[in-house]
Amino acid sequence: MTIESYIERQAARIDEALQRILPDEWDIPGKLRESMMYSITAGGKRLRPILVLAAARATRGLEEVERAAMPVACAIELIHTYSLVHDDLPAMDDDAVRRGKPTNHIVFGEAMAVLAGDALLTHAFYCITKAAEHELVSAETALAITSDLARLSGACGMVGGQAADILGEQGVTSLEELEYIHLHKTSDLVTFTLLAGGRVGGAGPEQLEAMAEFGRKLGLAFQIQDDILDLVGDEQKLGKKTNSDVAQSKVTYPYLIGLEESQALVERLTEEAKASLARADLREPERLIEIADYLMRRDH
Ligand code: IPE
Ligand code: IPE
Ligand code: MG
Ligand code: MG
Ligand code: MG
Repeated sequence: MTIESYIERQAARIDEALQRILPDEWDIPGKLRESMMYSITAGGKRLRPILVLAAARATRGLEEVERAAMPVACAIELIHTYSLVHDDLPAMDDDAVRRGKPTNHIVFGEAMAVLAGDALLTHAFYCITKAAEHELVSAETALAITSDLARLSGACGMVGGQAADILGEQGVTSLEELEYIHLHKTSDLVTFTLLAGGRVGGAGPEQLEAMAEFGRKLGLAFQIQDDILDLVGDEQKLGKKTNSDVAQSKVTYPYLIGLEESQALVERLTEEAKASLARADLREPERLIEIADYLMRRDH
């Protein structure tokens, strides 16, 4: 199966699981449920959950392990989606289009968008507890995944990166500061996907370390590509407005080192990521390698 068909198939499986992510019997205010489901089902590439499934499969080489990893895959998509809902708020990047649709706050209002984000974040941790119901995921593994998720999505992770991004508007002058922003706002969630998949697949400490390094580099390359596409991408394909970074006076890689050098850096980081992955000595690493190459070529 080509990488394109593989990604399409996995995204469809994830979409299906996300559709059922909120228990029907939960008594949730109608607007809140609607607002949460609006952003969850708006589409998106589903890159992070795809990586969780691919990492689990790469480690263990079993179809069943992907099923076991699905609740964790959904959890990271919930966190990612919440981060986008909040990222688009007027107080942050003030964007009106996301995943090809009006942003959450445009449809439901700012208060409900904040609350939907809060609820998506909280629900992610509920999903991880559900993962432990599968016989391949021990309570100990679920606990380790919970700890990783709290660390990598919180104050020293994605939220820390977003805070640095906001604090840094206009003021960022060094590549080092910019790297901090990108490593945390984006790489940390990608790193989580590799660690979580690895843990479900039973990876050892050294394997996890090599997989995390792959995620870190891949995530950095991904955000630099996002910065590039903000300048030269197609709004229709991206499903979001271009030139948002310019409008918000963000300092980005293209701004600091230019477009060509940014593109070269994406390629270099992807190669480095693949070299790190080779050190993990995984049973079936092929899909992860293909995903890395695919992302380097992406136009949305
Ligand atoms: C957008 O992420 C935000 C970044 C971290 C660059 P994606 O490009 O993965 O967005 P979706 O999930 O496909 O909408
Ligand atoms: C967002 O980075 C990163 C997170 C949401 C954590 P951007 O602000 O560049 O993402 P887009 O371009 O709005 O998708
Ligand atoms: Mg932002
Ligand atoms: Mg943004
Ligand atoms: Mg961007």
